[in-house]
Amino acid sequence: MFKKVITVTAGLALLGGMTACGSSSDGGNGGSGGDGLTMGFAQVGAESGWRSANTTSIRETAKKDGVDLKFSDAQQKQENQIKAIRSYIQQRVDVIAFSPVVETGWDAVLQEAKRAKIPVILTDRAVDSDDDSLYVTFLGSDFVEEGEKAGQWLVDNAQDADVDKDGDVNVVELQGTTGAAPAIDRKKGFEDVTSSDDAIKIIASQTGDFTRDGGKKVMEAFLQSHDDIDVVYAHNDDMGLGAIEAIEAAGKKPGTDIKIITVDAVKDGMTALSEGKINFIVECNPLLGPQLMELAKKVVAGEDVPKRVVTEETTFTQDQAKQVLADRQY
Ligand code: AHR
Repeated sequence: MFKKVITVTAGLALLGGMTACGSSSDGGNGGSGGDGLTMGFAQVGAESGWRSANTTSIRETAKKDGVDLKFSDAQQKQENQIKAIRSYIQQRVDVIAFSPVVETGWDAVLQEAKRAKIPVILTDRAVDSDDDSLYVTFLGSDFVEEGEKAGQWLVDNAQDADVDKDGDVNVVELQGTTGAAPAIDRKKGFEDVTSSDDAIKIIASQTGDFTRDGGKKVMEAFLQSHDDIDVVYAHNDDMGLGAIEAIEAAGKKPGTDIKIITVDAVKDGMTALSEGKINFIVECNPLLGPQLMELAKKVVAGEDVPKRVVTEETTFTQDQAKQVLADRQY
């Protein structure tokens, strides 16, 4: 039997303060397998289609499995996530799971969880810490590999991507949230692979914070300062979709006049890919709910789990997007 939730006055006070950042409890409502397990989940925010699909997957699986899920939305702010984790510690949940908005700055709060003997599972994004005893396992994608896949497509299609045929493949990069694992790793993976081709040059790189609006604004600025852009590499679909709006507003044809590579493969991205407005998408799977609940049950039951669980993912060309679009779940 798992521990019962003890509501602590201080915890309630903190929870009150967290209402603005979207804290809620979905309640364990008679699903199977969770046996009353209580999970505190500190989500990054609702910045992208990927994030919405990830939240839905976690909420729906918790409900199905009878896991009492306490959920908070940090609105992309680390201090909100830290507050939420502290509140879960005070509530004595059985397990804490979270997707860290940025990589660094977690040791103190994770030490508090460790002292309280509450296991922590990282999902989606990693933390940068010398002490890997601060979490039991990390479930999520290999973001460096995602960047490498994006870079490999460009290396393989460099001639075609040199739209103005001047011998240079000029890339502008729309980075994810500064300091976030997927932004750091997708940049690295892409650069590692494209550096093998001297023609490929990253001429500008800036954060669009993983949002559609951010991608649009940064792309508008890039288009004003550079008239020789061949390729956009966006760290997620949403920023790529924002870039498409900016490119169209500038009178150019996305996917033709400027090639676009993105990461995620959410439905809106796949639709743009099938319409020829994006050229290649590297998949990042947000449906982590089932694996997360399985890991949580094992961890709380004291069973061994792997320290790292990597999500399986693929890539999509325009033709492949046309084939799978109708069945795309998110
Ligand atoms: O951490 C995963 C990334 O976060 C997704 O690729 C992006 O869309 C999201 O905001």
